[in-house]
Amino acid sequence: MDAADMGADLEKVLISADEIRDKLAELAARVDEDYAGKDVLLLGVLKGAALVMSDFVRALHVPAQMDWMAISSYGSGTKSSGVVRIVKDLDTDITGRHVLIVEDIIDSGLTLSWLVANLSSRGAASVEILTLLRKPEAAKVHVDVRYTGFEIPNEFVVGYGLDFAERYRGLPFVGTLAPHVYRS
Ligand code: XMP
Ligand code: MG
Repeated sequence: MDAADMGADLEKVLISADEIRDKLAELAARVDEDYAGKDVLLLGVLKGAALVMSDFVRALHVPAQMDWMAISSYGSGTKSSGVVRIVKDLDTDITGRHVLIVEDIIDSGLTLSWLVANLSSRGAASVEILTLLRKPEAAKVHVDVRYTGFEIPNEFVVGYGLDFAERYRGLPFVGTLAPHVYRS
């Protein structure tokens, strides 16, 4: 599916497929350098990070394992509350492991700050964050993010893993929705 197929639902393409590919290659080169000689455990947060993970891991050269968590944040509609429930936990014992969280987007930061604390309490050797997108204007708590793809305005975005009511995750780019889609 491309922007034309989305017709009137899509307002604009914010980040193209080419820009995403180039950025992930750039971040992978930094991670290769920073984790040289170490085994890294990539932790994807379902479902949004699935596309970032699959492209990022293929751009990496250091040995990497993958594991997944599904977490749900209690909150209304599109806002997270920071009160988090684990829906699917890791299969891996992360004691002594170098964990790199792979995320699609950081909005308020509440979900991630909970996750970092949770993983650190399990005895990980290190916990760092890679996120494709970040909305600086929406930040409610400070989160140390080592690898950021793009800072974006405080607008609701879809595509490349991100959904609106489970739709649009398969788009190869990140776009904004026309207001009529989420207001109706
Ligand atoms: P917080 O606020 O805890 O939330 O940083 C991060 C989670 O909220 C979702 N989220 C979005 N999903 N378009 C989406 O499709 C967006 O613009 C958006 N902003 C936040 C997402 O699940 C993310 O992991
Ligand atoms: Mg997410």
